[in-house]
Amino acid sequence: MRTQVAIIGGGPSGLMLSQLLNRAGVRTVVLERKTRDYVLARVRAGILEAGTVDLLEQAGVAQRMHAEGQPHHGCYLTDDQQMIRVDFTESCGQQVMVYGQTEVTRDLYEAQDRIGATHIHEVENVAINDLKAAAPHVTFDRGGQSHRLDCDMIVGCDGFHGVSRHAIPKDVRREYERVYPFGWLGILSETPPLRPELIYANHPRGFALASMRHEMLSRYYIQVPLSDKVEDWSDDAFWDEFRRRLPDDVAADLVTGPTIEKSIAPLRSFVSEPMRWGHLFLCGDAAHIVPPTGAKGLNLALSDVRLLSAALIAHYNDNDDSGLEGYSAQALQRVWKAVRFSWSVTTMMHRFPDHDAFDHRMQQVELQALANSDTARRLFAESYTGVGL
Ligand code: APR
Ligand code: PHB
Repeated sequence: MRTQVAIIGGGPSGLMLSQLLNRAGVRTVVLERKTRDYVLARVRAGILEAGTVDLLEQAGVAQRMHAEGQPHHGCYLTDDQQMIRVDFTESCGQQVMVYGQTEVTRDLYEAQDRIGATHIHEVENVAINDLKAAAPHVTFDRGGQSHRLDCDMIVGCDGFHGVSRHAIPKDVRREYERVYPFGWLGILSETPPLRPELIYANHPRGFALASMRHEMLSRYYIQVPLSDKVEDWSDDAFWDEFRRRLPDDVAADLVTGPTIEKSIAPLRSFVSEPMRWGHLFLCGDAAHIVPPTGAKGLNLALSDVRLLSAALIAHYNDNDDSGLEGYSAQALQRVWKAVRFSWSVTTMMHRFPDHDAFDHRMQQVELQALANSDTARRLFAESYTGVGL
């Protein structure tokens, strides 16, 4: 088998890259280890930056997002003293789109079907070879048979647990990591969202987030110790705890109902440098992870894809390699800014087991700045909507 660009991983990064490249006449093969149904059953975050919305348009996959997504012009941050609204439009002239990552992925799969892009699912033992030779190749197993895919370039879009990153030699790779001492227990519930906009709450009992997918689907989270298991949390226990972490007048409006999904995710910041080695390029979670507090994961992944797709198209169509040469350094600039924002919002909004009264005062002062300073709100809004990254 032969292609121009072999893409490992069929999550949002791999699918978007394949979509943009095929539309420009560059041939790709996507290798995904799970089934399509499995990929589409994952529930992830749901906030799209304006730049992500533009990219979906450029890729021809924005129609359903515009019909069903909800533009949001602000969000709330609360602690036990105050409820602060950051108005994105007023602060920096931007907005975000509430539209689930699962839906973005579904739209991408459907668009890929329409243009007849090649996806091979349920592959095993993917291995990357000859990255520094004239041409690399990928080997993999499927249905008990071994296969070889020859290509010009390999793009690792295989997420944090993928194999691609590990193909960069250890003495070349630098990893930076912060593991947070708590997780998020998240639920989906077919109930009307608490408020029209998201609420991020820092409460003495721990962080809570009220988010949503649409007018009859709410997405709520609470900070839990890493030792907690989903089975420890009945629906009633979740609703009780969630309610206690919100301001009383907000909690009074909470509509509860059965949960249709419940899971616990750990929180981590992680960056692996460089994002290119020889013929291998990394995109998305394969190279970096952010805690979900800033809603940056998908946006950052797709901003890598925007850069790399343009660089690959310039390579194939214009014989111009400057984008490929600059890809890693350019992508990492935005990555580090988003890592800093996600870390700082996580630090401002959670209760850490080792925090004392001093740390809590620091959180209060930061929230106070958001309440009182146009400049602080503008900086937050620019990072949250992505224009400042
Ligand atoms: N071989 C083939 N496919 C693999 C392999 C492998 N060895 N390892 C992982 N994969 C697949 C996974 O099954 C998954 O479908 O790669 C895909 C990676 O997808 P994601 O983890 O969703 O990563 P990405 O596409 O970069 O998406 C961006 O940012 O913060 C997050 O929630 C956000 O998931 C989103 C991500
Ligand atoms: C979500 O809706 O799942 C969501 C929204 C905002 C976040 C994280 C998750 O910061």
